[in-house]
Amino acid sequence: MTVIKAALLGFGTVGQGVYEAIQTHSEQLKKLLGASVSVEAVLVKDITKERPGVPRELLTDNFNDILSIPDLQIVFEAIVGVEPALGYLKQSIAKGCHIVTANKVLFAQHGNSLQQEASRKGVTVGFEATTAGGAPVIRTIKELLRVNKISRIEGILNGTSNYILTLMREENYTFEAALKLSQEKGYAEADPENDVEGYDALNKLLILSELAFGEKPDLSVSGVEGITRITLEDIQKAKKAGQRYRHLVSAEMTEHGVAASIKPVLLSEDHPLYSVDGVLNAVAITASLAGTVTIKGAGAGKLPTASAMIEDAAALSGKLQTVQPLSARSLFAG
Ligand code: NAP
Ligand code: HSE
Repeated sequence: MTVIKAALLGFGTVGQGVYEAIQTHSEQLKKLLGASVSVEAVLVKDITKERPGVPRELLTDNFNDILSIPDLQIVFEAIVGVEPALGYLKQSIAKGCHIVTANKVLFAQHGNSLQQEASRKGVTVGFEATTAGGAPVIRTIKELLRVNKISRIEGILNGTSNYILTLMREENYTFEAALKLSQEKGYAEADPENDVEGYDALNKLLILSELAFGEKPDLSVSGVEGITRITLEDIQKAKKAGQRYRHLVSAEMTEHGVAASIKPVLLSEDHPLYSVDGVLNAVAITASLAGTVTIKGAGAGKLPTASAMIEDAAALSGKLQTVQPLSARSLFAG
């Protein structure tokens, strides 16, 4: 029996989802990759926390333990913020590992340089999980609309905001109670201000814009607005008028560069994003040949996000070495 060695950076909502998906979908992964994926180590910040479901000997709080794993092939990264994640990913690439990240804050700022470093080393960077959770927006643009010229992207890119707006409209939740529930469900960022003030949607729009147009928009004039100014009264008044608030992002190629906007918008029933409820995200891509392609799916949460990361790993089919499962765990056990 041979294996493909992987390490996991982060064991919060997303990291746990990836670990679980590797176990529950091991047969599918084995068929696609030619060997089982073996998680050799899990990096966490607080090594003293109880972590049911993961063997104690896999846990470490020292990144050098990850670097010392022989024949490591895939590093899944699901920690928070730019550093230390960026340094860890650069060292993983230098070691010759393929990386798969869910970290949009990091990727929106450093995605290009990471991809350049990876390409110099002959490895890849999977980043499907950075944008729209389980809805495969990145791969659609990157692989299925390569000849098309994309002129516009419009969508709902923050699951937490959409979930809050839906609970406030359908169940009369207060903003605070709805936010608390989205945190309990693992949808919100570690700092939920990123969700509700629009910065998370901004990071995702920067990633999509770079991918679709080869450049980022300048938002210094239009600014970034989240959902915090919308009151329960506003939402209920809109409901009576048959309208819904959505937190919308858009980016459009113009002769002066990419024009973008990130703000809550009142939609009527005839708008295609009117009925995108709950934690769903949706992205409508206007392309020269295909017309408008709309992709919709769970925008946040443990398994939808893990799905995106596992599919990035499966896309490495043919690029991975399989090795005998010599126990790297013994390197730092105890
Ligand atoms: P989370 O639940 O807060 O988990 C973060 C994990 O990272 C924890 O296990 C934490 O360790 C670990 N960590 C944080 N700082 C670290 C450090 N300096 N060194 C080592 N480990 C560190 O966050 P999450 O929701 O899983 O999100 C993880 C990443 O995925 C974020 O970048 C987020 O933006 C992105 N993302 C999240 C979702 C979602 O639905 N939640 C969806 C797409 C993308 P401890 O457990 O010891 O605290
Ligand atoms: N906090 C993010 C959201 C997670 O709610 O959309 C998914 O990127």
